[in-house]
Amino acid sequence: MNIVVTGGAGFIGSNFVYYELAQHPEDKIICYDALTYAGNLETLEAAMQSPKFRFVKGDITDEAAVERLFIEEKPDIIVNFAAESHVDRSIETPGLFLHTNVIGVQILMDACRKHGVRRFHQVSTDEVYGDLPLDRPNLFFTETTPLHTSSPYSASKASADLLVQAYHRTYGLPVSISRCSNNYGPYHFPEKLIPLMILNALSDKPLPVYGAGENVRDWLYVEDHCAAIDLILRKGKDGSLYNVGGHNEKRNLDVVKIILRALGKPESLIRHVEDRKGHDLRYAIDPTKLKTELGWEPKTKFEDGIRRTIDWYLANRAWWEHVTSGEYAEYYEKHYGAAVK
Ligand code: NAD
Ligand code: TYD
Repeated sequence: MNIVVTGGAGFIGSNFVYYELAQHPEDKIICYDALTYAGNLETLEAAMQSPKFRFVKGDITDEAAVERLFIEEKPDIIVNFAAESHVDRSIETPGLFLHTNVIGVQILMDACRKHGVRRFHQVSTDEVYGDLPLDRPNLFFTETTPLHTSSPYSASKASADLLVQAYHRTYGLPVSISRCSNNYGPYHFPEKLIPLMILNALSDKPLPVYGAGENVRDWLYVEDHCAAIDLILRKGKDGSLYNVGGHNEKRNLDVVKIILRALGKPESLIRHVEDRKGHDLRYAIDPTKLKTELGWEPKTKFEDGIRRTIDWYLANRAWWEHVTSGEYAEYYEKHYGAAVK
């Protein structure tokens, strides 16, 4: 099969490229990515050595370029990771999020309709459900939880999900959707909580925790997410929707302390800064459907995954030094400013 991975030069997409090349050497993987600040060709250096891999630079909102891609590669499957993915940036530039995360999905699906594909898979997020209260630990997001978004990012992802379901119902497009909890692991862009805290701790810089740090996220090692998507593509029914998560809830402050302990750094580096606007309190996934229908189980425990992730950042200094120069340095200065000096 020819599998197009859009957004494959980013965090989860690149991990998925490597997962597919290793697990399904018979398939050809084509990464289509605009290389925004979050996309990085160095991440795909090892994949470039494989005759089963091709990189195409292009934007999912560029109809003509998408058309060329479909003519050249005749994809059987499209897995769409391409998105603007950072909540804080969506608060600053919502228009860009709507353009990429909604219009881009429409353009990809129109190409799928025109050329015919076996499956269009939309990589979505648990953030489409909004948040859960901190004092009701028995509440979880299921696939039937109503959409109730908080940020321009999550609203754009929820809009895309609705459009994907509309294309299935109206045009019979074979689609699937996965809604995953927060991922962590190698190649995670350092604007996100876990890599940001690892890199700041390594340089003895303050660790900016929003508000009291009591917000809860449900962390999943990225390879487990890739395995779930792979299963859904190959075994999930057309039109299906699955939540993905491993029941691994942690308060932000606890995650930060685990990282500091692992690196032998003092908790005095923690700096409580102004809270994020509209900050979601708690995310927690019920993954029962994926387990019972497709037999998926997460393989990596948080203790192992976080150690592996920290070791990866220690061993790949050149990678993160490159991605944190340029645009990111300006973003960091503007977003955190004096609070972390
Ligand atoms: P990321 O920001 O690391 O990567 C996004 C990639 O998309 C980059 O390579 C970027 O260059 C590319 N891209 C952006 N705009 C594009 C465009 N217009 N055309 C083509 N390529 C474009 O994001 P990520 O964390 O890897 O997330 C991937 C997907 O998974 C997103 O759709 C996100 O909503 C979803 N998701 C992420 C998480 C998480 O914890 N990171 C959890 C659940 C779901
Ligand atoms: P993030 O990695 O941005 O993922 P998301 O907002 O999609 O869950 O943030 C994870 C949590 O960490 C979230 O509650 C916000 C918090 N956070 C901080 O406290 N400080 C930071 O500098 C960042 C980037 C996030």
